[in-house]
Amino acid sequence: MRVLLLGFGNVGRQFCEMLSVKANFLKANYGLEVCVVGVATRHRGSVCAANGLPVEGLLKTEEETGRVDVWEQPYSVGQSVDELLESCDYDVLVECTSPNIETGEPAADYIRKALRGKHHVATSNKGPLLFHFHELTEIAAVNGVYFLYEGTVMAGTPLFSLARCGLAGSRIRRFEGIINSTTNYMLTLIAAGSSFDEAVRDAQRRGYAEVDPTLDVDGWDAAAKVIIVAQAILGMPVVGFRSVAVEGIRGITPYMMDDARRRGVCIKLVARASLDEEPSISVKPEAVPFSHPLASVEGINNGALLLSDTIGEISIIGPGAGARETASALLRDLIAIEMGGKVLER
Ligand code: HSE
Repeated sequence: MRVLLLGFGNVGRQFCEMLSVKANFLKANYGLEVCVVGVATRHRGSVCAANGLPVEGLLKTEEETGRVDVWEQPYSVGQSVDELLESCDYDVLVECTSPNIETGEPAADYIRKALRGKHHVATSNKGPLLFHFHELTEIAAVNGVYFLYEGTVMAGTPLFSLARCGLAGSRIRRFEGIINSTTNYMLTLIAAGSSFDEAVRDAQRRGYAEVDPTLDVDGWDAAAKVIIVAQAILGMPVVGFRSVAVEGIRGITPYMMDDARRRGVCIKLVARASLDEEPSISVKPEAVPFSHPLASVEGINNGALLLSDTIGEISIIGPGAGARETASALLRDLIAIEMGGKVLER
């Protein structure tokens, strides 16, 4: 499987490391041999080679020089993303550039080009799905290729494959989730006595927060993710931010968390999408009873509860942020592509 990789930040690097560490395991268990034929970054250059790049060498030189384009013949350097998309011989575009949640571009355009050229796509980038979910899935279907995005919501925790494969044959009518790690981590700290400002600084320091942490604390990151879930899992038509009632966690104090605990509930930032009466989507702090599955979601973990028409409620809890976790979702997307229809029935 020839992979063209867009983005060599924390996720892209972890993805390459995982490919290298797991090469024998992937070959033995899935017959999957991945060859990275090109890497493009926004500010650190690009490199490609028809016969594949030495991934470990690439990681090492990037660490030493901060660039990916310090290679000589037979490696070719300095091509733009558009040039690579046109000239590279690849099977799968792995797109892990950072999200633009105002337009989804330019990543959406890269994905469109790859799908139209009959290349599969695996992405961990929320932006393109948020604005162009139906368009991109349609282009993939028309061109007979896969468009997978496991890492976009709940990072390494397998939400979309649970809905698509684990619950194959089911209709999902309702989703409830804690899908922003930064705010969940902050609420865990605030419950232990930290102020809001201390909690946000800690989440930033640990690298969980978006570049602009207001996207997390004001609920926009969770809103972007629940819009993706509503379209991808509940089958809602195009949804924009205006259709979502969004409220973040500003103003939540240790006193409020303590008071909630005495009443047998905890305060969580809950994202909901439902087809129960009329379609509705919201993100807001809610009092969650201790007996509810989402009450035990602490720290950077995320949780989701799906209501299906076959087995009723099912819930999952797991890591919702982190480069390694997100890279593991990209790897699973590659395995799903390699396994073809066997694990991809909708
Ligand atoms: N800022 C995001 C979060 C990162 O805290 O959930 C993962 O999407």
